[in-house]
Amino acid sequence: MLILGIESSCDETAAAVVEDGRSVKSNVVASQTGLHAEYAGVVPEIASRAHVESILPVVRRALGDAGVSLADIDAVAVGNRPGLIGSLLVGVAAAKALAWSLNKPLIGVDHVHAHLYSGALLKPGDHAVNIEFPALGLVISGGHTSLYLLRSWTDLTRLGATIDDAIGEAFDKAATMLGIPFPGGPNLDKLAQTPGADPTIADLPISRLSPSSLDFSFSGLKTAMLYEVKGVPTGPRAKVPSPPAPPMTDLRRASLAAAFQKAAVSAVTLRIDRAIEQLAQQKVHPKTLLVGGGVSANSLMRSELQLACVRHGITLQIPAMQYCMDNAAMLAGLAHELFLAGKVSDLTLQAVPTTGV
Ligand code: KG4
Ligand code: ZN
Repeated sequence: MLILGIESSCDETAAAVVEDGRSVKSNVVASQTGLHAEYAGVVPEIASRAHVESILPVVRRALGDAGVSLADIDAVAVGNRPGLIGSLLVGVAAAKALAWSLNKPLIGVDHVHAHLYSGALLKPGDHAVNIEFPALGLVISGGHTSLYLLRSWTDLTRLGATIDDAIGEAFDKAATMLGIPFPGGPNLDKLAQTPGADPTIADLPISRLSPSSLDFSFSGLKTAMLYEVKGVPTGPRAKVPSPPAPPMTDLRRASLAAAFQKAAVSAVTLRIDRAIEQLAQQKVHPKTLLVGGGVSANSLMRSELQLACVRHGITLQIPAMQYCMDNAAMLAGLAHELFLAGKVSDLTLQAVPTTGV
């Protein structure tokens, strides 16, 4: 079964063709990074206008790269939630028009749910591994940081989520504080790998919330980072002023990047350990850790999650680099599972700004 996936939830216009849920025939992503760079963040109105311009050329290219025509497509999948409403509408309208004109099923997919599927996608030449359930699911992206228990691809329960910033957002803000150019997350990752960078330069906090909480919080880490860069502000009742921050050298910048990355990654692995412990008490033993979202491209995150899985004797399903960031292949892949479960949409499908998972 060939599914055409369409993604336009934020600042990437993407289309992909995936066969039988796993085999990626094409994966086209038109990034708008250049358009938003001067604002150091995504401008919704610019994003939706750019989607309108790119959506049809991107779909045409995805079909061409896969060597198929519209007549070969068996279903059309679209990310209809969550995201910027003006951006989502462009993809949803295009998907509806295609599904209606081809008389093929339309499948609305939750973008956050689809990130969990991205580790199951196979590039040409990859060997298919069976994904075993129950699984723990971890979404670490620019907009979401959540942990799930999945009993199947379509049966998931949220165990925890961030109570403030998403982890990718925290990476981007820390990068801005350090004067690292946009896009912050990937550039901070590179800088943290500078030879001689010392992650112990600052003792940045790892939020624990309550001892059993599976929620995340990154605001304390962000504030601690700000104080390392700008110095601790002197309180109104202080007798002596707080000392200024040490001068920012290249090595200090790289070391602070490494310290931030270490604290952010530890906050994630701590939740994985806690979740596995708590589920074991309920006699639930996950066999797989499914990871997705832009921050799953982070080098330290990848190695630490691998170690955590070895520690717990479970299999890590982490996406290949091209499927970490927003893409349409993950939507087309998950749509196959939704189709098999009878979860097909109709032309009343709505764009919704919030996630449903
Ligand atoms: O999943 P994604 O493409 O978009 C959302 O659905 O949010 O994630 C984008 C986020 C951005 O915050 C970006 O800075 C972060 O993922 N990111 C990284 C890395 N690559 C992307 N963060 C840390 N290290 C990376 N290597
Ligand atoms: Zn995403």
